[in-house]
This record gives sequence, C-alpha cells and structure tokens, in this order.
Amino acid sequence: MAKRNKIALIGAGNIGGELAALIVRRQLGDVVLFDIPAKADFAKGKALDLMQNAAIEGFDANVVGTSDWADCAGADVIIITAGVPRKPGQSRDDLVGINLPIIENVANNAKAHCPNAFVIVISNPLDVMVWAFREITGFDAKKVVGMAGVLDAARLQHFLAAEAGVSHKDVRAMVLGGHGDDMVPVRSNCTIYGIPVSQFISSEKLDAIEKRTRGGGGEIVKLMGTSAYYAPATAAIEMAEAYLLDQKRVLPCAALLNGEYGYSDLYVGVPVVIGGAGVEKIVELPLNDNEKAMLAKSSESVRGVVEVAKRLRAQSAT
Ligand code: APR
Repeated sequence: MAKRNKIALIGAGNIGGELAALIVRRQLGDVVLFDIPAKADFAKGKALDLMQNAAIEGFDANVVGTSDWADCAGADVIIITAGVPRKPGQSRDDLVGINLPIIENVANNAKAHCPNAFVIVISNPLDVMVWAFREITGFDAKKVVGMAGVLDAARLQHFLAAEAGVSHKDVRAMVLGGHGDDMVPVRSNCTIYGIPVSQFISSEKLDAIEKRTRGGGGEIVKLMGTSAYYAPATAAIEMAEAYLLDQKRVLPCAALLNGEYGYSDLYVGVPVVIGGAGVEKIVELPLNDNEKAMLAKSSESVRGVVEVAKRLRAQSAT
C-alpha cells in the first residue's frame, strides 16, 4: 500500500506553524507538530486550526500536535526550529548558550526515534546548531543540512529584483558561508536571466544591497521584535521537497565540508544537490580572491562559535 510521507516539525512556534501550513498546502505528507510539554496544548491547538483549513483548502494530510517523541517515530523528514529566536540587538551567535542544550535534547531524541530521517536544522546560530546535531547523532552528513543559503539568497534576490525593476523569477543569486553578518553574497554568480547583474545595477548600489542582505534577518528582528518566519519556512520547504520528490535541486545549504573549499569538519553554506539520497553532491564554485577571502572570514567566525559550543559541551559533561 502506498504510504504518505511523515514530516516531524520540532518546535511549533512561528516557523513551525508556517512550515506545517506549507506542507499540507503542497500535499507533501502528514505533519507532527512537536513542542515541549508546557507547549503541548499550543501545538495541539495549532494542529486543530490547520485541520479545520482542510475542508476549505481541500487537502488530505493529517496534522497532529504533541509533546511525545514517540509520535515522531519513523519520520521521513525532521525540520528543527526548537529554540529561542533573536530579540532586537542580539546576534545569532548570542543564542548559542541557550539553544545548544535544546539541540542536544532534540538530537538525542531524534537519534532514538527517527534514525532514518532527512534532517533540516533552522535553529540559530544555524551553522553551529547543525554541526552540533550531526556531532551528537552521528547521522550520515548527507542526511543532515542547515537552512540558511536559500533564505539569504532569496533576500538578495528580492533586493536585486526591486532595484533592477525586473521579475523575481528572473533573478538568480548565490550566498555562501555562515548564516551571519559576514555571509558571502557571490556577485560573480548573480544574474538576471543569465545576464550579469552588474549590467543592471551599479557597483555602489550592489554594495548597499549586499550589506542589506547580510543584515536582512536583523532588519526584520528590529521591526517585529522577533525573527522572520514566512521566508525561512518556505526556504526549508524547498529543501524538504527536493529530498522527498528526488528533485536534484541545486540549493545553497549549510553542509558538512570534508575538504571542499579548503575546509573540514565545518558546516557552512555552499551550493549542494539535494535529491532522494539527501545531499548528493557539494558543488565547488570558482571564486575570485575577494570572495575567497570573504568565505575564509565567514568560515572562521563559524569555527569560533563551534569552539564555544565544544567548550560548553565539555563543561556540561563534567
Ligand atoms: N523541543 C522542542 N521544541 C522546543 C524545545 C525543545 N527542547 N525548546 C524550545 N522549543 C520550542 C519553543 O517552545 C517554541 O514553541 O521551539 C519553539 C520556537 O518557536 P518560536 O519561539 O516562535 O521561534 P521561531 O521564530 O519559530 O524560531 C525558531 O529558528 O530562525 C531560528 O533564530 C530562530 O532559533 C530560532 C528558531
């Protein structure tokens, strides 16, 4: 008998709820909205609200809310937003001490209940949380990715489309490196239907757009008092869909590097091919010297926070 996909959303907050809405609308599978016991009723309420949308939207998927990991057992995909979002004035790295124990808890449960899942981590600081999740579970790195590049590239694409006065559909942009303020927009790879973006937008304006992209998350935190959720959720769904439908999409994601770009044992954003086997390939882009230097700076920032995470883990083990 054919079986529906099962997608477990760990964290039923702002991004979790939007993820669930997108999954049922795109008919990608049944959803388990998981949160901590104190938020179990909240998760159940969100699930019920979404199920009451089924009659209007005409979808067949089921959504359940829970705080019991047993309900996540056998999930095909897990998307992790468990943790605390930024408040105005905070950097993503400021969250490491708060979100690391949460990711440790999630990783241990995922290992016990969902050992075969394709895992997408969204919790911040992203590159460090996805590294910690992989380290703790020991899951195959092909099955553990972080969502950041699709979002950062989408932010850049939006600003480029608005400035050039062209359709978003025709803009392609690439953002590499860590999901932090020194992420690397790769100008040499940004095109409008294959035409270099520099033919449409002056280099001064491109500098300003790239700066705004780097601070794109912070701009929203400042406006809303919490972090973004619509675009982060859609970006993660692009990745989940690529896996579930074996689409072999080329998407910038945080992937574990093993010598690629000159880095090892580090998750940073790079273009990868996502298909039914997970991360099927890491694509190495030719970078100019300036882009290489920016990637080195961004990767070093990620490594610095990984070292903080390692120290915190060592302290909590003693
Ligand atoms: N297991 C499951 N869920 C947890 C756990 C845990 N151990 N700890 C906290 N949570 C839940 C919270 O109870 C909350 O409902 O995670 C949810 C997070 O939801 P929001 O606070 O609404 O945050 P959201 O905007 O969804 O962002 C989540 O993604 O982009 C990042 O920086 C952001 O780290 C943050 C994460």
